[in-house]
Amino acid sequence: MDKEELAGLVKKAVLIAQKEGKLPDFSIPEIPLNYSEKEEYGDYNTPIAFSIAKQINQTPESVAKILADYLAQEEGTKSAEAKGGFVNFYLSDKQLINSLRIILKQKNKYGSSQKGKGKVMVIDYSAPNIAKPFGVGHLRSTIIGQAIYNLYEFLGWKCIGDNHLGDWGTQFGKLITAIKRWNKKPLEELSVSDLQALYVQFHHAAETQAELLEESREWFKKLEQRNKEARQIWKICVDISIKEFNKVYNILGVKIDKALGESFYEGKMEAVIENAKKKGIAQESQGALVIILPGLNVPLMLLKSDGATTYETRDLATIEYRMKKWKPDLIIYEVGADQQLHFEKVFKAAEMLGYKKEVEFKHIAHGLIRWEDRKFSTRKGDTIALEEVLDEAVKRAKDIILKSKENQDISAEQKEQIAKQVGIGAVKYNDLSRQPERDVIFDLDRMVTLEGNSCPYLQYTAVRCQSVLDRAGKIKREIKDIELNFEEKSVVRLLKKFPEIAAEAAETFSPNLICNFAFELGQKYNIFYEKCQILNADSEPEKELRLAITAATRQVLGNSLKLLGIAIPERM
Ligand code: ARG
Repeated sequence: MDKEELAGLVKKAVLIAQKEGKLPDFSIPEIPLNYSEKEEYGDYNTPIAFSIAKQINQTPESVAKILADYLAQEEGTKSAEAKGGFVNFYLSDKQLINSLRIILKQKNKYGSSQKGKGKVMVIDYSAPNIAKPFGVGHLRSTIIGQAIYNLYEFLGWKCIGDNHLGDWGTQFGKLITAIKRWNKKPLEELSVSDLQALYVQFHHAAETQAELLEESREWFKKLEQRNKEARQIWKICVDISIKEFNKVYNILGVKIDKALGESFYEGKMEAVIENAKKKGIAQESQGALVIILPGLNVPLMLLKSDGATTYETRDLATIEYRMKKWKPDLIIYEVGADQQLHFEKVFKAAEMLGYKKEVEFKHIAHGLIRWEDRKFSTRKGDTIALEEVLDEAVKRAKDIILKSKENQDISAEQKEQIAKQVGIGAVKYNDLSRQPERDVIFDLDRMVTLEGNSCPYLQYTAVRCQSVLDRAGKIKREIKDIELNFEEKSVVRLLKKFPEIAAEAAETFSPNLICNFAFELGQKYNIFYEKCQILNADSEPEKELRLAITAATRQVLGNSLKLLGIAIPERM
């Protein structure tokens, strides 16, 4: 029985109470139903008695009592009681065991749904900038963005991931100027850090040489006018950077559907500007072309006074393109909180251009990644190459694996593979396990620990389940309807909650809900594992049941980690 069906049970109780004259006639409101976090409040509870009581002028407690009596008689429930106006009820063991059967039958599909069928979502994530290092902010965007993508897909949405690369804009005028003036290497041999250094040099020099800025504007203008030399230098910078970004994507195991960077919209901005003019919302201001946004004291800049296009114009052109191409119902931007104002402006302007009617916009404004004691910075001097950070995580994971006595028989190659899965998983989980809006602290020691709410803990639990199943061997399993003990029940009732959690995580753009769920499941399973004999259970049906709980836990942990983009090692 899923949540809807459970609500149906409550409704049935109301109807019977009415039919038998225990409650008067009234229109039955929609039945709210909650999973009870604490076992003493039942498996589920409903506050329905409050709204009914109001309608019929009785106390919630008396209504709840009547409903609890009827609900307790339903086949799917074991018992029900009224407490403080709430109706708390427990599912029958048969119901709970049946949910195990469902999980083992649906496997990878368990928890998924078709709620989003026919709907289209575009997610804009990762989006590093050409000629700059792939920063920790982009890492966070990539990891959270991918998890959100996976969640929506799991709920039946058609998803399009788009990497809106920062490959256009006035900064390229600066970069070309710096390359032309100071670079001595053959262009093909430049690295991202060379490009970064040239860019920094430009800024230093421009402080005293004002003509440099003029020169850089010229170069960007040439670039926008398709000057051959400007294009050639630009293209080389793009290729150098993409090559480095791809290394990071490979390590992370992330593949983004599209990479339509800002430069893709080069020829598409004209139409947006025309559209804004036609709608009468574009106006001149000190030589620039802007859209004044009601309620905001900064305008959106369509064209700068020197005629150059802007990041904002490109975002409007991007919306126009996406609307035409994919007709999305929802466009999500997974971009740092420092761009809050930018998106507020873009969404408002999009609304004025007439897009808001057809599509919903959401900016998931992720928080900062910091070291414990200071801000993470990609500015020179404090730069940590992302690859180094990822390598370090893998190295620490390897230390843990090497230490474990259980792993003596694993080949060096396999250890390498496990270390990667654990280390990279830890980095991802660290980002995902907090609400996206919150800051995250980068503490490698804490990330790779096997204790507490960490990725290695979850991976370890999944591996533990698998090893129990492997030891049991492959036999045809039949789960009998027997009585469940406390530990068994606490795992099973939680497993049952997974579909709800997946839906909630997507709706609230919060992959951290999946993390919390998986952690709680891990804890409950491990308590069950400590307290209950599985392979040496007292009876065959008991053993089969416990194996089924183990298999279902392995499955649901697997489904959770898959949504998060985290691999489960074969051994640990
Ligand atoms: N490249 C930008 C940056 O690193 C992020 C782009 C986000 N996406 C967008 N459609 N504006 O700051």
